[in-house]
Amino acid sequence: MPHLLITGGAGFIGSHVVRLFVQRYPQYKIVNLDALTYAGNLENLRDVEKAPNYIFERGDITDAAWINDLFARYQFDGVIHLAAESHVDRSITNPLAFVETNVMGTVNLLNAAKIAWEGNMEGKRFYHVSTDEVYGSLGEEGFFTEETAYDPRSPYSASKASSDHFVRAWYHTYHLPVVISNCSNNYGPYHFPEKLIPLIISNIKQGKALPVYGDGKYTRDWLWVKDHAEAIDTIYHKGKEGETYNIGGNNEWKNIDLVENLCDIMDELLGNAPNTSRQLITFVKDRPGHDRRYAIDASKLRNELGWEPSIQAEEGFRLTAQWYLEHEEWLNHVRSGAYLQYYAEQYNS
Ligand code: NAD
Ligand code: DAU
Repeated sequence: MPHLLITGGAGFIGSHVVRLFVQRYPQYKIVNLDALTYAGNLENLRDVEKAPNYIFERGDITDAAWINDLFARYQFDGVIHLAAESHVDRSITNPLAFVETNVMGTVNLLNAAKIAWEGNMEGKRFYHVSTDEVYGSLGEEGFFTEETAYDPRSPYSASKASSDHFVRAWYHTYHLPVVISNCSNNYGPYHFPEKLIPLIISNIKQGKALPVYGDGKYTRDWLWVKDHAEAIDTIYHKGKEGETYNIGGNNEWKNIDLVENLCDIMDELLGNAPNTSRQLITFVKDRPGHDRRYAIDASKLRNELGWEPSIQAEEGFRLTAQWYLEHEEWLNHVRSGAYLQYYAEQYNS
């Protein structure tokens, strides 16, 4: 039975990846390693937590000795590494946490895999999940390709860029069988409401102000999270060793257009009069070093491995708004931090 380690599986994207692999590959033993930081929530995985091929391990990727021990205990054949500090605004106020988890944590995992697989790399795979933010900021034209030079501009993107460099260094120096993907902005169920889309949906529900940074004309390329999970499955199984694949939905939206669209969807779903929620839009101070535009050229992934996004953003934004309205309990727990109190009791920390 192949043993697969997924790190960060209690987070937003990680929980979709864990669910997909646990359900699609009953022949794999899936170990979900997560520190359960504020962003990690086991409620995201209620429907698969009792599956016979699923194991949860609470642990911190910054703890090298514990990580080495985990590799010795499970004899992993593959790793899909998603654990990270992921929010740009938090990286501006607390950059060190990003260096520790995203850089040091990744190096600990690379080292553990190297030690465990030394002398027998055949059939092994270390898949590092990264971001398009490593490429920096685009003007009005153009797309990020796999050849675009790295130009990270926030502590978050600098830490992710650094981790990508370490992954490539372990490939070239130690022949660790790695693959990397760089994805654009995800959205969908279980997205923590500090990020733009769930924050806007949550604030509309509560009748709170909808904060739009700067002039609102910053642009992001949005991808349905389940399409990212499918891309990760494709790349894990079919991607070429040592290669990088860009992942994106080709769905560029200026933030203000996106927020207005969410207002209109929510008004319709809540039975509000037209334009009710747009009144809540409030332009606020800009994010320092705010990247103007991201846009991904995902043609390598489409042409070489055959991946395609299944839905476009208009449909996905509506599905997301519906999901949040149907999962009020999840949202309330996340907003109140009730799940953190449960962890404190359950895990004694
Ligand atoms: P998230 O913040 O929702 O989840 C991160 C998970 O990692 C959480 O469960 C958290 O508990 C865990 N974690 C954090 N520090 C840890 C540590 N030291 N040890 C073990 N676990 C730890 O993040 P996400 O949005 O799901 O992103 C997942 C990955 O995908 C990240 O590597 C991120 O850089 C990348 N990514 C995210 C997006 C996006 O739009 N969200 C896009 C492209 C790439
Ligand atoms: O591009 C991929 C990246 O997308 C991932 O690597 C990151 O982990 C993920 O958090 C995301 O980063 P962004 O900074 O693009 O996402 P965020 O949701 O924080 O912001 C999206 C845009 O909305 C950005 O231009 C900032 C703006 N924004 C954000 C918030 C939270 C606002 O205008 N108001 C807000 O309150």
